Amino acid sequence: MTDDHAPDPVSYNALKTAEPTLPFAWYHDPAHHAREMAAIWQRAWIYVCRAGALEPLDYRTVKIGSQNVVILRDAGGTMRAYHNACRHRGSILCTKANGRLGSRLLVCPYHQWSYAADNGRLVATTSFTEPDGFDRAALGLFPVALAVWRGCVLVNLDPDAAFDPATDFQRPPDNLVHFPLEDMVTGHHWHSEIACNWKTFWENFNECLHCPNVHPELVQLVPMFSRRIIHPHDVPDWPDHAARDDPKYRGGMKTGAQTWATDHSAQGRVISTLTPDDLARGHTYASAWPTFFIAGYPDHVRIVHLMPLGPERLRLSAEWLFPAETFADPSYDPQKVIDFAVLVMEQDARACELNQQGMHAAPLMQGVLMPEEYVLKRFQDWVRVRLDAVGAPGHD
Ligand code: FES
Ligand SMILES: [Fe+2]
Repeated sequence: MTDDHAPDPVSYNALKTAEPTLPFAWYHDPAHHAREMAAIWQRAWIYVCRAGALEPLDYRTVKIGSQNVVILRDAGGTMRAYHNACRHRGSILCTKANGRLGSRLLVCPYHQWSYAADNGRLVATTSFTEPDGFDRAALGLFPVALAVWRGCVLVNLDPDAAFDPATDFQRPPDNLVHFPLEDMVTGHHWHSEIACNWKTFWENFNECLHCPNVHPELVQLVPMFSRRIIHPHDVPDWPDHAARDDPKYRGGMKTGAQTWATDHSAQGRVISTLTPDDLARGHTYASAWPTFFIAGYPDHVRIVHLMPLGPERLRLSAEWLFPAETFADPSYDPQKVIDFAVLVMEQDARACELNQQGMHAAPLMQGVLMPEEYVLKRFQDWVRVRLDAVGAPGHD
């Protein structure tokens, strides 16, 4: 259900040879999971929240594996991110998932060292004197890379990272250019925990072989998905159907449907800046593996982000964005698009959990990718490259 990679416009997309999956131990072995957290997650751009969610002195904390990060908006309005750890003896500084600082200082709850929110500088200790050799200037908070892209706040534990949408998304997110992301308002948040590895989530997201069985409501709305494919070119005889204006072959929603909602209606609130192509496509995705994707629909946008809680557990979060005038319209019921997406996400969650459980079978070392799973091949190669880049042991 993705378009993480632009399909070749003229050729058959699918895999021509049977490809082995990643070793299944990689989906549950704690030591391997720790390697992936270090090699992949602690070098990736993590979606935190919408910039508009933080007023001056508001903060959020995010745990990326073992690493705790505090993200705040300083009194001057600039977003900052630091390791959420005191330079004295290491206590956590901000203890809540979100809150507001009482002043322009981050004050350690243990012995009350205080740091300037706007640059992390150590402002004061609570000792009677500062001993010889104590270098206050060298004891500021450790910064974390932060970027604000189209109203989305992102952090990266790699201090040298610079966010580049051309490379940090799987392909440049030009397809979202007509969606007024910066100006949209968040209308709803949703969270869930899924008992699966983070790679299991993305692999499920990147194929539609499962769609007819798992998503009966979705394949009714997007008829091409009933053919178990994500792009018209995913079958070898696609040129024979290229001229057909039938959504089962060209993609997009069924005739008469307007958006991904329980009643398929945009309720008269199609986003005014979208083009006929955007509307015909029906769904527009941009993914930034491994942490989040943005899904644009004719009347709303959904941002979905995940965070591993362990080798076999993740937290999945979604938020729904609407043009302000849509959300303010009392005749527009956002619950219809929310309910449809939650239905699909919960169906996927159950499939992922079944997948995860089966990968423990002792004789089952790895699986095989079928032709339609070509994006999984790219994803698995992407994982391999990142592990190789840091010389992570234990993989082949
Ligand atoms: S650990 Fe923070 S002031 Fe002591
Ligand atoms: Fe699915």
